Formats: sequence, structure tokens, C-alpha cells
Amino acid sequence: MSAVARTREDDASAEGSFSLALSVNGNERELLVEPHESLAEVLRNRLDLRGTKIGCNSGECGACTVVLDGSAVCSCVTLACTVSGSQVTTIEGLERDGVLDRLQEAFVEYGGFQCGFCTSGMIMSAHALLSQTKNPTEDEIRIALQGNICRCTGYAQILQAVRAAAAGA
Ligand code: FES
Ligand code: FES
Repeated sequence: MSAVARTREDDASAEGSFSLALSVNGNERELLVEPHESLAEVLRNRLDLRGTKIGCNSGECGACTVVLDGSAVCSCVTLACTVSGSQVTTIEGLERDGVLDRLQEAFVEYGGFQCGFCTSGMIMSAHALLSQTKNPTEDEIRIALQGNICRCTGYAQILQAVRAAAAGA
């Protein structure tokens, strides 16, 4: 590759880092990331978006779920260097001017959390579902949340909250 054709990404890669440009909760962000850094680590440690939790760190529990280009993903097993140009929504991106969105309100109203560690991941999975499917069936709700583990609630209140949000209650 000629020197003329080199890009900023090339220069960053040559130093062991990657140039990452993405939209997070509607804000354009640019930063250098290490090749091994997960999206969850970048969100939490570099962008200070601590609502995204890291539990198992291996794609098993769903605590780290964010919405990436419209789909719910486990950000702990998503390498940050692979998501340049993407749109990411985290739990912090749901409220508007201090007002919770309908899912967040429903989780509060129906007691869809106890310790809260799974909650942002649950809500982001449900958010991805409701963004794509306005009136999901019970099965569709359960399938959307099947990758999210909760150790506290027994799931009944979580399902109730998502049903209520889907119904616009
Ligand atoms: S922390 Fe990512 S799936 Fe558990
Ligand atoms: S509320 Fe504690 S893990 Fe779900």
C-alpha cells in the first residue's frame, strides 16, 4: 500500500489500535480501541455508559445486551473494532429529557426487577423486539428474552411488564 493510500485507520492499526467511529444513543463518537476490547468494555470504560452490565462476559447471561443496528446483541462478545459505522442504543438512550420510555416505566410499575443487574439487558432485548414487532405474541416475547437470565424475579413480572409496554398500557 502506498503512503498516499494510507488512512487514519491504517495508522491506528499499525500502532495496535483501531479507529472506531459509531453512533451511540444518537451521538457520533470517535475513539481508538484495542483489538481485544469488547463493545461492552468500550461503552462502560471509555464512554462511561455503565448501565450496560457485564455478568458472565461470555455471551451466556444477556446482562450486557444493547441494540446494534436494530438487533439485540451481547456486547461482551462483540468486538468493538467490528462495529465501526454502526448505531448503538444502550439503556441510557431510552429516556428522553428525563422521561422514561414505556418499557422502563412498565418495569417499574410491574416490579420487573429486584437487584436490577439483568434489567438493562432485559429492557434492551424487549426494546429491540418492540421496535420490530408492534404487537408481539407471548411466544415472541419469550423468545426475545430467552437469552436474558434473571436470578431474582422468577420472570413473571418481567413478562408482565413487556406485555404491558407492548399493549401501550
Ligand atoms: S455479560 Fe454478556 S452475555 Fe453475560
Ligand atoms: S433482578 Fe436480579 S438478576 Fe434480574
